[in-house]
Amino acid sequence: MHPVHSPEVQPDEKWAKAVRESARRSGAVILAHNYQLPEIQDIADHVGDSLALSRIAAATDASTVVFCGVHFMAETAKILAPAKRVLIPDARAGCSLADSITLDELREWKAEHPNAVVVSYVNTTAAIKAESDLCCTSSNAVDVVRSVPADRTVLFLPDQFLGAHVKRETGRENLRVWAGECHVHAGINGQTLVERVSENPDAQLLIHPECGCATSALYLASSGVVPEDRVTIASTGGMIEAAKRCDSTSVLVATEVGMLHQLRRAAPAVDFQPVNPRASCKYMKMITPGALLRCLQEGRDEIDVPSEIADRARQAVTRMIRIGVSGQGE
Ligand code: 13P
Ligand code: SF4
Repeated sequence: MHPVHSPEVQPDEKWAKAVRESARRSGAVILAHNYQLPEIQDIADHVGDSLALSRIAAATDASTVVFCGVHFMAETAKILAPAKRVLIPDARAGCSLADSITLDELREWKAEHPNAVVVSYVNTTAAIKAESDLCCTSSNAVDVVRSVPADRTVLFLPDQFLGAHVKRETGRENLRVWAGECHVHAGINGQTLVERVSENPDAQLLIHPECGCATSALYLASSGVVPEDRVTIASTGGMIEAAKRCDSTSVLVATEVGMLHQLRRAAPAVDFQPVNPRASCKYMKMITPGALLRCLQEGRDEIDVPSEIADRARQAVTRMIRIGVSGQGE
């Protein structure tokens, strides 16, 4: 279905002009996630985390939303704005975390806990969201779970590391966590973090809660290796807010490497270094300059979510949009 994207499309001034003109002609707003290539972030109308971009997609007046991110993010935009045309520059941009639970697995899990409340992370397919009571992002996962009455069992899916973080923060014993993970964040492990901290003991730590090292970061803080106020566990949007307030000269960043671009823009005097420089999401990087231009010029790939799924998923997603950003570094 897709031609191989022409590698010769360079993100130069000519490309930028063509992107801007095509977007204007088609009445499109360009949204980019914080993990996108720097040139895609720079041309976008809005750059942000999953929650911020969902809110913008829901509120925009533009008739077309071009979502530079992965498939579940564009699907979420379509669920929230069904009357708008939602495009993604390459529909093959998936997510290993969203793939870590199937609809049959969720239905089986629910059948084992018939009175439980299902809280799904936004990194899930529309079909999984439609089977969920509530949706959350890394910005508001703790608050979303806190909104569930204390006596109800919560089935939290699909990310085990975010689930462990929510369990720690809420102290909730009746929170059951699916054992899924993102291949990129699972690869940022505790051992690598400890090595980086020993090389750079004065650095501040910014950790995404999907990371395998989130527990180690809290251990380093509680055991006094790193002062507690130097460890922030936050969504990608929360990291930018933390960077703006940063009083260290050096920061170690545990998340996908695309994040460094916005962090360096937010605090140019700070030295931001990745905990794992190989932590790159191949799906996010499928949104190339050539793919974005083709998307605007040819109007594809268009996202379609069947209305019977979208209508059920919308309830869970709308509740996610309403529940504010928690104190996770925001
Ligand atoms: P954020 O919601 O923090 O932007 O994270 C999205 C994501 O896919 C992380 O891997
Ligand atoms: Fe999915 Fe991981 Fe890529 Fe985020 S970094 S989009 S969770 S595969």
